[in-house]
Amino acid sequence: MKLVPKLPVVRPGGAKVLLPNEIVDLKKPVTRSRVVRVEFCELASEGLMDKFVIRGGNRLVGSIRISGAKNAALPAMAAALLTDEPVILENIPDVRDIQTERNLLVSMGAEVELGYGRASHRTTISCKNLVNPEAAYELVKTMRASTLVLGPLVARMGRARVSQPGGCAIGARPIDLHIKGLERLGSSIKQEHGYIEATADRLRGGHIIFDKITVTGTEDLMMAATLAQGETVMENCAREPEVVDLAALLTKMGAKIEGAGTHTIRIQGVDKLHGARHRIIPDRIEAGTFVTAAVLTGGDLTLTNCDPTHLGALTQKLEECGVSIRAAADSIRVTNGHQLAAADVTTEEYPGFPTDMQAQYMALATQAQGTSIITENIFENRFMHAQELARMGANIKVEGSRAVVRGKTSLSSAAVQCSDLRASASLVLAALVADGETILDRVYHIDRGYERIEEKLKSVGAQIRRIGEFLPRRAAVPSVVA
Ligand code: UD1
Repeated sequence: MKLVPKLPVVRPGGAKVLLPNEIVDLKKPVTRSRVVRVEFCELASEGLMDKFVIRGGNRLVGSIRISGAKNAALPAMAAALLTDEPVILENIPDVRDIQTERNLLVSMGAEVELGYGRASHRTTISCKNLVNPEAAYELVKTMRASTLVLGPLVARMGRARVSQPGGCAIGARPIDLHIKGLERLGSSIKQEHGYIEATADRLRGGHIIFDKITVTGTEDLMMAATLAQGETVMENCAREPEVVDLAALLTKMGAKIEGAGTHTIRIQGVDKLHGARHRIIPDRIEAGTFVTAAVLTGGDLTLTNCDPTHLGALTQKLEECGVSIRAAADSIRVTNGHQLAAADVTTEEYPGFPTDMQAQYMALATQAQGTSIITENIFENRFMHAQELARMGANIKVEGSRAVVRGKTSLSSAAVQCSDLRASASLVLAALVADGETILDRVYHIDRGYERIEEKLKSVGAQIRRIGEFLPRRAAVPSVVA
């Protein structure tokens, strides 16, 4: 049996900290040299072997509440490292990447308190006693955004040791721009044994021009610069709403930031930041995914608690395809009763069409009349869903960074496999209009970024259920003490 601890577990004697998500094989004899105490465990297979069974054909009608943005919540949680006072974050989505980040912060000595009941989406993070400024490989390999702790740790503690992320399903995804930026702020960087070690007595303000627009790179360095001595000017910055949301939180914490949401951000470093309370913006990609579900199924969906202004590129494209969209201040209604027309899409940095919606758009393009050319400009290998969609009957030809989708094709159910977060969403969407029962394997990818997607879809009429491969979820596991 394999167990994985939910919280870091210190072995009696204190010799080793067992990292969250470290797999312990209990078939091997438990000896003194191995971990001898494992508790608060859940089965390693919890959620990991789950599948979705989806029967297509239903129109989706009703209303869905959009969760907080995972990609805004992750940097916001990392920002708590910048202060010794508590940071209270509201509208945190209940998704696996957030659990991973909590585990990461806890492994550094942070206290992370979870809200419950009506406050179940609130998290209070206190980084008063940080003991271990390190993001270990075990965590970074499961979530690349773990590298967001690099800047805040060097800024606050003068030292950070973060595993290099390595390869990724959707492309190389290096973090060289984070490193170069930190060097510009006066940090010394050593790279050895697969880790990046950054040190600085105190960071000093500098001029950073990003070679390429990077979202987490902009966020990481913006956080670092808040505590640097003097002014930092960053050019060619990402303009994503998540960057703006992080700047809003940092400003509440006492940071002096101008220009977030534009290409140039200016930060006047301060000596100290304090605690704050902040509500995370709605998840524009979750909203976009449900918008696409409404369009595909010829449905009528109202999405509440969302920000339609963040969905401009998608809604404009869908209107080009013939869809009717009505936006209010914090909700959006999508209806579609017509045959979709094909339209080309090119992914770009915000406010362009998001790469995180490219896979879902491809599912939609299979149902549009005509040829849609989808060009992926941000990541080099982000078409893995194309093969799975083709197994369901789609006519898709991938040529380098372009996918040519010819529609409309009838989709038929098949056993398909999720390869990454947004690819999984695309397969769920395709299954909603496929003929028969599709079985989606490895839905843990989708659980990384979508909060109970199956429950939300079911509430508006989809036939979708989650099944566990071997064991019930949250099965009780006895503690093992040797
Ligand atoms: C973030 C999002 C992710 C989204 C992506 C692009 C989070 C947690 N994740 O990822 O969902 O798909 O933005 O919108 O917010 N690059 C470099 N060197 C670097 C950093 C990036 O070459 O140091 C390249 C990447 O390989 C990629 C491009 O820059 O080709 C953009 O990547 P980036 O914006 O950094 O993506 P993430 O921040 O990792």
